[in-house]
Amino acid sequence: MFHVCFVCLGNICRSPTAEGIFIDMIQRAGLTDQIAIDSAGTGSWHIGANADPRSIEAASRHNIELGSKARQFVASDLKRFDLIIAMDHQNLRDLRAMTRDASLAAKIHLLRSFSPNSDGDLDVPDPYYCGDQGFEQVFQICQQSLSGLLTYIKQQNWIV
Ligand code: 4NP
Repeated sequence: MFHVCFVCLGNICRSPTAEGIFIDMIQRAGLTDQIAIDSAGTGSWHIGANADPRSIEAASRHNIELGSKARQFVASDLKRFDLIIAMDHQNLRDLRAMTRDASLAAKIHLLRSFSPNSDGDLDVPDPYYCGDQGFEQVFQICQQSLSGLLTYIKQQNWIV
């Protein structure tokens, strides 16, 4: 199994959205027996919570279900996962600060670095204090970037 974890701040908006879209993508590609997917937050405020209703609503408009419960990313996750995908630069910094082991730090990437059209902006914007449009934008950004991520995983021959 190849293990991927998506990470944002609260684990109720962006990373559950990326997780839900990628689960669907992996199912459609017939890769559920090869890629395992999870998400977590760098913060602890929302541990145990469902995804934000606005994220659930935005995803459901695209027939994607978000079923994750928020949890906090812990240091042992750096060993457990093969790829750790941060939603923005702050998440990336917070994750990198959890280890001095270069081989573990090398697993951490920005989601939008896999997007073919990020226009140089590599952050998935935090939608928490935004309106519904922000949540739709997060969905679109995640969807585009995740296609690139799956292509990358295949190119690296991490799956067969
Ligand atoms: P997320 O969004 O990191 O995409 O889950 C946020 C959720 C909650 C908070 C901030 C961002 N918060 O401050 O509680």
